[in-house]
Amino acid sequence: MSNIPLSIPNLAGNELSYVSDAIEQQWVSTGGSYITRFEEEFADYAKVPAAAAVQSGTAALHLTMIASGVGIGDLVIAPTLTFVAAINPIRYVGAEPVFMDCDDSLCMNPFKLGRYLEEECELRRGILYDKTLGKPIKGIVVVHVFGNGADMESIAEIAGRYNLPVIEDATEAVGTFYVAGKYEGRMAGTIGDYGAYSFNGNKIITTGGGGMFVAREPGHVKWAKHMSTQAKSDELYYDHDEIGFNYRMTNLQAALGVAQLEQLEGFISIKQRNYRHYQELNIKLLPFCDYVRSNHWFYSYFSKDRDGLMKHLDECRIQARPVWKLIHTLPMYKGCRAYEIERAEGFYGNIVNIPCSSNLKSEDVERVADIIKGFEGL
Ligand SMILES: Cc1ncc(COP(=O)(O)O)c(C=O)c1O
Repeated sequence: MSNIPLSIPNLAGNELSYVSDAIEQQWVSTGGSYITRFEEEFADYAKVPAAAAVQSGTAALHLTMIASGVGIGDLVIAPTLTFVAAINPIRYVGAEPVFMDCDDSLCMNPFKLGRYLEEECELRRGILYDKTLGKPIKGIVVVHVFGNGADMESIAEIAGRYNLPVIEDATEAVGTFYVAGKYEGRMAGTIGDYGAYSFNGNKIITTGGGGMFVAREPGHVKWAKHMSTQAKSDELYYDHDEIGFNYRMTNLQAALGVAQLEQLEGFISIKQRNYRHYQELNIKLLPFCDYVRSNHWFYSYFSKDRDGLMKHLDECRIQARPVWKLIHTLPMYKGCRAYEIERAEGFYGNIVNIPCSSNLKSEDVERVADIIKGFEGL
């Protein structure tokens, strides 16, 4: 019996050919034509004027924090149900998260966000303060969890009321776009002030490790490229005008990225098909919102016995994972404010993510479904 992994890369396209080409050209580092090509093709796909390719989604998020002007002693509203890399960049810039609950989409609950801002915060000389903590709120990080789409219409409207920048962590949502409402046709990650994507090995497309930074203002994308190359202002004389980072994507990674992007829509169709197949086999998965064409990145099964099911799947050589431990319960974030966290706790205790790779075969889906049904008595 073979293993069935949770989410692995699908490298069946031009990956080898483009990476070999980059090697033959001897452009393997942070210069080379694949970087520009990947940025341009990604920007076209996401329908934005420009994008900056970086080393990871985390690096992209770190740059969004700096670009938003968030700094020491500030507060940033962020979800508790997410991967820790969505939150750590808040700390990298010396700020502190205020944790928000999710709704049924697993993404930020706009109703609670609005109530927190209305009841728990006040404007002082044009700046919004958390009344209890006495610190200014400088931004909102929204995560499009598992490729679903957060309710951006409500969140952007609330943020606009208080003039707060919105940072979209679309690391898991490459390819998700809105099909209804004010943002119809817009890609997740391109609605707020800044957006970040990830091409880590488990994502829907991968560059081994890598990320992309996008922004409403094209000037900020130019700034991100500058900051990701040590803020070098002169090619020859080692002149630098800011404290920058070594965050630029390499040409080798970008060569992979170009090949993966060519296949993205195909991967999404396969993921949608396998998701439907699980459902037809009576495996009830959490739905994706009907106002988005989701990329169907991760499939979440709601089990009454999360740990028992995961153990059983493991014994049957099927890789499964719980949802992340809620961030406000992690030791380094325990002291931070967490506002009315309820729904996220229910999801944390029950979700099991089951195999969803774009190279998952029909018979794999059937085997996973049979094992789950046997365990759950369906
Ligand atoms: C929600 C979320 N944010 C941030 C990241 C960080 O991306 P990366 O691994 O590319 O740094 C990831 C994925 O790894 C993620 O799932």
